[in-house]
Amino acid sequence: MYSELIEQLQKEAEGLDLATSLTLIATRFPGKVSFSTSFGIEDQVITDAIFRSKAAIDIFTLDTGRLFNETYEVYSRTVARYKLSITPYYPNQDEIQQFVLNKGINAFYESVENRKECCRIRKIEPLKKALAGTEVWITGVRAEQSENRKGFHLFEYDHGFNLIKFNPLLNWTEKEVFEYVKKNAVPYNPLHDKGFVSIGCQPCTRAIEPGEDPRAGRWWWEDSKKECGLHTQ
Ligand code: ADX
Ligand code: SF4
Repeated sequence: MYSELIEQLQKEAEGLDLATSLTLIATRFPGKVSFSTSFGIEDQVITDAIFRSKAAIDIFTLDTGRLFNETYEVYSRTVARYKLSITPYYPNQDEIQQFVLNKGINAFYESVENRKECCRIRKIEPLKKALAGTEVWITGVRAEQSENRKGFHLFEYDHGFNLIKFNPLLNWTEKEVFEYVKKNAVPYNPLHDKGFVSIGCQPCTRAIEPGEDPRAGRWWWEDSKKECGLHTQ
């Protein structure tokens, strides 16, 4: 059922600009479309396009409790600028309390297992709540970001969440993203001008050197695949 629908959406969205494609999806799935923002530069582009198109799309963010203050500042400036409501989702108090008590406040540095457990509690479980009842989940992933993401599609079926995922910036280049932001005076995280490409939680993100892999700054102490489980296919 989903594969035919996805094929159809793919055809309908072909050649449409960002704002028009968002309107198309919001119209096709009324009240069932959600966009997740981490306030990274790609997400700021999508937020701006949602605002401009006035598409009826819910916007939410996963506040892990460990984000950069710069990220919270972008959150604040974005709400003020666009007068949009962005719903925050938080980790379960009991789960995170037990994890910190048993493993330690910075346990993610000690093992991949601990790191994945922290991501599960602080991101994956809140994401499940945020996506309840959603039929189309919009994200800001781009193919250029990693080998894994090169295999993503504009529209795809997400088995984990049993919904359609829409990645409208999938084929945008980094240059196009920055051009959009400059042209439309979109507020963005100042860390992007300090070598931070992919911005997640503060203890797990560092700036990268020119030429380094765009995701090298995420969980930099690990050799494992640089994904937290939000976008693993
Ligand atoms: S992650 O899987 O490594 O954390 P990344 O930071 O590249 O993801 O962001 C890709 C997309 O995932 C974003 O465009 C956004 O849609 C979603 N996302 C990531 N982190 C969050 C977050 N904290 N809150 C909401 N959405 C997020
Ligand atoms: Fe925890 Fe780091 Fe994952 Fe954030 S990125 S949820 S701090 S392990």
